[in-house]
Amino acid sequence: MQPHGVPKALRTDTVIVMSDHRLQRAWQVLRREGLRSFWFKFLGVLGYRRLFLLSRSLTEPIPAVSASLPLTMNWLTPAELTEYLAFRSATGAEQIADRLKRNQRCLVARAQGRWVGAMWADTQRAWIEYLERELPLAPGEVYLFDAYTNPAFRGQAIAPAMSAELLRRFRDEGCPRALRGTLPENLAALRAHAKAGFQTYALMGRIKIGPWRHDFLTVRASRAQIT
Ligand SMILES: CC(C)(COP(=O)(O)OP(=O)(O)OC[C@H]1O[C@@H](n2cnc3c(N)ncnc32)[C@H](O)[C@@H]1OP(=O)(O)O)[C@@H](O)C(=O)NCCC(=O)NCCS
Repeated sequence: MQPHGVPKALRTDTVIVMSDHRLQRAWQVLRREGLRSFWFKFLGVLGYRRLFLLSRSLTEPIPAVSASLPLTMNWLTPAELTEYLAFRSATGAEQIADRLKRNQRCLVARAQGRWVGAMWADTQRAWIEYLERELPLAPGEVYLFDAYTNPAFRGQAIAPAMSAELLRRFRDEGCPRALRGTLPENLAALRAHAKAGFQTYALMGRIKIGPWRHDFLTVRASRAQIT
């Protein structure tokens, strides 16, 4: 027996199993998402993270975007929490309850009786968890985040149709502009958001090494220039 009563063979096995798991995950990212995505995820682990910021004016016309199947959409209610968590298992009950408490709103879409999409919006604060940083909002701006389409229904313009519905709802509430953040390598999201009229206007990020941190924002166009 080794220190702490753990046989040496077992301790060694555990270490091998853990690194195997990490290697497997890295290999999956490399295969599924390609070298570029793998490289930026690796840099993210090391402390370099960045996002494209996208903007869409709500004072310009909002063309109808139709999904390829009929959708019904409604704001998520507390009574639907259990269903939501079954649909989007990556988020915890406490996190969703906290979002609702902060007046963040979630549009949910159903088709053929199934949950097919969800998209969140906040008009008070744009907290970007990935960058551990806030994007300051001008008065009336709405920040859209955590867009998600059921994997079995992807590629049917559900996310763009939901974005367009959100844009109309917030325009009717008097919001002049919608913003969102997307990983540059998330091509599916960039394509989906472009269909709803979003354009990239900046790259926002941070470099963090231990306690040292540098935040950056590279602006391509002012928000006002984005229609
Ligand atoms: C990004 C996401 C919300 C897009 O939703 P969607 O309803 O599939 O949107 P669209 O139908 O417009 O498809 C967008 C792009 O996804 C890609 N796509 C098409 N079929 C797909 C499929 N079966 N599976 C995955 N991606 C597919 C295509 O590139 C498509 O663009 P194109 O129509 O111009 O070819 C969805 O892929 C998703 O939930 N991804 C995981 C969460 C995520 O990344 N969220 C975005 C945070 S910013």
